[in-house]
Amino acid sequence: MESNTQKLIHSFGALADLGQEVADTGDFMEMVRTSLHLLLGTLAIRRGAIIECPTHHLPEDKSTNLLAVWGVGDDYQPQFDVEDADREVFLNAPDGALDILGLVQSPTSNLQHEVSTGSGSDRVEETSRTTPESSPIFFHRYATDLQQQGIELIVPMVVRGELTGLVLLGGKASGDAFTADDLEVIKSMVRHIGVGIHTHRLLGEVKQQVVENRRLYEDLRAIYRDTVRAFAAAIDIKDKYTQGHSERVGKYSEIIARELGFGEEEIEGMAIAGYLHDVGKLVVERDIINAPYRIDAKQSSELNRHPVAGFEILSPIHHPYADIPLMAKYHHERMDGRGYPDGLTDEQIPLGAKIVTLADSFDAMTTNRPYKTRRTFDEVIIDLRLNTGSQFDPVVVVAFCRALMKELNGEIKERRFAKMLGKNYLEASKDIPLLTQLLAELDPNTKTVAAGG
Ligand SMILES: [Fe+2]
Repeated sequence: MESNTQKLIHSFGALADLGQEVADTGDFMEMVRTSLHLLLGTLAIRRGAIIECPTHHLPEDKSTNLLAVWGVGDDYQPQFDVEDADREVFLNAPDGALDILGLVQSPTSNLQHEVSTGSGSDRVEETSRTTPESSPIFFHRYATDLQQQGIELIVPMVVRGELTGLVLLGGKASGDAFTADDLEVIKSMVRHIGVGIHTHRLLGEVKQQVVENRRLYEDLRAIYRDTVRAFAAAIDIKDKYTQGHSERVGKYSEIIARELGFGEEEIEGMAIAGYLHDVGKLVVERDIINAPYRIDAKQSSELNRHPVAGFEILSPIHHPYADIPLMAKYHHERMDGRGYPDGLTDEQIPLGAKIVTLADSFDAMTTNRPYKTRRTFDEVIIDLRLNTGSQFDPVVVVAFCRALMKELNGEIKERRFAKMLGKNYLEASKDIPLLTQLLAELDPNTKTVAAGG
């Protein structure tokens, strides 16, 4: 009795160790090897192997994969083909294990009531308990091979009704037959190992799925970007005097968002909001948009519908970036509440919308319109200074000026502004002092530097 209790404690200990091994997903092959050693050690079994069966999701793939082997000939690498019929046999193993010896002796007969004599002894007490009813095709092909390697027992690993693998076991070192208790211990440990392998397999599938999803996501994003550009082009074609306006507002918004330290996703979202901010103009009469004169109050209120119309166009679309419809809706709001459509004030206006507002105004000031030529850079700076705090958010103006300054003083090589403003519009020697002065007024950090210089 005492010895049985000790054996039981020993087995439980082994199961606990095994649980830890299986839970540790660090090195999968090492986990399987250690699990095999624990299993063999627990019952003093001389040899064994753990093999992974192909998943039934891939019917063309039939061959098994050897994961761990111990105690058989050095050059023995058990590798089998598992046919559908074999899978059935393993999944329906009467007591969770299949006794090779019994099968080898009568491979073609119905073995249910036969009692194995093993190698002249009662190695397995009741063959009927451990052999399948049907003719085991697998054993026809491999029994001799397995027997030559001293394998006596095959334990299928079945997880969630799926054949995950097989554990091949030799006899006990003592030469004793496996008892019913031994089989229980073996089955428990094999279940643990099976779960580990199943989990590893699932993780592999999930990883593959993640890669595939990422690829699909990238494709979708590319399609989305192309659609946005096509939309922006459609808006700009309607407004013949402001060719390229939407694209430039998108680019200025991107520059400001980047300068403000937003993440790549948000930067792209704000760029897209810039591209699409005037999408509502698609529903405004072309004559009003293209009027070669200052429009009257009625026309103006018609034109001022465009932010809300834009919001309505963009809202039903599922955008990969947050708040794009809101940024379009509020790009004519002002800090002082005198903007439209809702007359929001400072903190009520999303930062993204404030960015688009400045980008939009800057492009409007620096491009020719039918009723006015573009302003000089000095005039633009004066306008910014005048309207910061009432129309524009100082934080956004500072970021914008800093980005511009970096290009003018050569800190950033890419000529992002020059490309949009034309070659001769900006002039470093004249414009850097202007920007420095404005930054000094708006940003205390810059003020110190300017005062020192
Ligand atoms: Fe607008």
